[in-house]
Amino acid sequence: MQQKIRACLFDLDGVLVDTARYHYLAWSRLAQELGFTFTEKDNERLKGVSRDASLEILLEIGGLTLPQEEKLRLAERKNTWYVESILKMNSQEILPGALEFLTECRLAGIKTALGSASKNAMTILNGTGLAPYFDAIIDGTKTSRAKPDPEVFLLAAENLNVLPEDCVVFEDAEAGIEAAVRAGMASVGIGSPDILKQANRVIPSLAEMSISRLSEL
Ligand code: BG6
Ligand code: MG
Repeated sequence: MQQKIRACLFDLDGVLVDTARYHYLAWSRLAQELGFTFTEKDNERLKGVSRDASLEILLEIGGLTLPQEEKLRLAERKNTWYVESILKMNSQEILPGALEFLTECRLAGIKTALGSASKNAMTILNGTGLAPYFDAIIDGTKTSRAKPDPEVFLLAAENLNVLPEDCVVFEDAEAGIEAAVRAGMASVGIGSPDILKQANRVIPSLAEMSISRLSEL
């Protein structure tokens, strides 16, 4: 990457906090009530995917077709359990390296934004104390199109008053990396290079990232 990085845009679930296990607990509880098993491997398919789309995948796995109002009720039920879990979160659950890298960005004058599909992002940011680390927060309550649509990252860049080509996205989901590519932004995958093939670089966690490494992208 040649240009100067002016902003770092962060996905939340799986990049800054490990909420995938809370999503998994709630979805698998719902599946159990509906009479089928939902595995951790199945849960991989839900990463980065909106709540409604996640329910569709879950029902497909269970071989169920349900009317719209029943689907709304089930998504709400799952969310009630999920919120019970995230309300107990605190700063201990921030993933390794996240606070250090956010702090480093801000000291270096690089703007920071959250770009998350979650409608529960503010609950998590407040509980963990992460909220003050962002210049802009774009979550599932502010967007209408889910990743891989680039809307969330383009809105974040616009809020920061930074051009898309001057942004780097940090993402753990394939759909999120695709959203970054479609937004015309560079991306760093957090996780496995086998899954995050389109990312400019893939690292195991933000503990592996620093401002000097950003310029090597
Ligand atoms: C994403 C998660 O960040 O948010 C998905 O990776 C989740 O697993 C999505 O489905 C929506 O979250 P919420 O909190 O609005 O149900
Ligand atoms: Mg994620």
